[in-house]
Amino acid sequence: MRICIIGAGYVGLTTAAVLSDLGHKVKCVDRDETKINALEQGVIPIYEPGLSELVVRNRKEGRLTFSSDVAASMDEHELIMIAVGTPSAADGSADLVYVRSVLLALSTVLHTHKVIIMKSTVPPGTGVWAEEFLLGLGVPGTLFDIVSNPEFLREGTAIHDTLNPDRIVIGSRSVDAAEKVRAIYNGIEAETVWTGQTEAELIKYGSNAFLATKLSFVNELARVCDVFGADIMQVAEGIGKDTRIGGKFLQAGIG
Ligand SMILES: NC(=O)c1ccc[n+]([C@@H]2O[C@H](COP(=O)([O-])OP(=O)(O)OC[C@H]3O[C@@H](n4cnc5c(N)ncnc54)[C@H](O)[C@@H]3O)[C@@H](O)[C@H]2O)c1
Repeated sequence: MRICIIGAGYVGLTTAAVLSDLGHKVKCVDRDETKINALEQGVIPIYEPGLSELVVRNRKEGRLTFSSDVAASMDEHELIMIAVGTPSAADGSADLVYVRSVLLALSTVLHTHKVIIMKSTVPPGTGVWAEEFLLGLGVPGTLFDIVSNPEFLREGTAIHDTLNPDRIVIGSRSVDAAEKVRAIYNGIEAETVWTGQTEAELIKYGSNAFLATKLSFVNELARVCDVFGADIMQVAEGIGKDTRIGGKFLQAGIG
């Protein structure tokens, strides 16, 4: 399959490297020309174990290319994966300015049908909003489907996590588009969770919130341990052995 990935950051670059290694032809696009020029010289802007090797191999074999021409690259592809940043705004909400600018550029090249894969972490309702945004720009609804396909990788183990996900979440109204997106992961062993678009967005937000809750909880418990002169490491280990709770994300620390 031919896939265009927008954003050459942690998520976009890692996904591009892994998908090209699975045999797809991937074009990874970023509006940051310095980053794209560096990638074309073989300079990887982040350190992730295994990433450099995958990028070098797949570039050499012609399956992975880079470009800073966002609109033209999207024009050439049916499968468009959005992996741009969604930083927190001043009021704590997610700033969708980068997602919006990708959709705006996409609207100018939507002449044939495209599957828009939302890989960025976006608030619940963003898929519905994106659809309305494109329709509002005059793009006929028959020319696109939006599929939510959230990412769960961790920085530092990004390649491993992408190749060994606990699950692949695919949320869409269109069964056809959902199946096309699942097919790009053929070769990766993982259970697929098929959902609606908003449900997929809520799975990602719910997962993040739950993990943050676990960390906050164990940090609070560490303060209780301090009061009693108890060792939080022993306490957390004992709690984590309960399979209903689990020991991951149950280490007290400053984070
Ligand atoms: N980093 C992680 O561990 C992680 C894990 C899971 C999900 N996510 C989510 O994935 C998304 C991407 O995160 P990241 O860490 O890869 O971000 P990042 O900041 O490392 O990379 C984003 C890239 O998008 C590019 N970009 C921004 N606007 C663009 C545009 N209009 N056209 C083309 N390129 C554009 C930027 O130049 C940048 O290189 C975010 O929504 C994030 O929350 C991140």
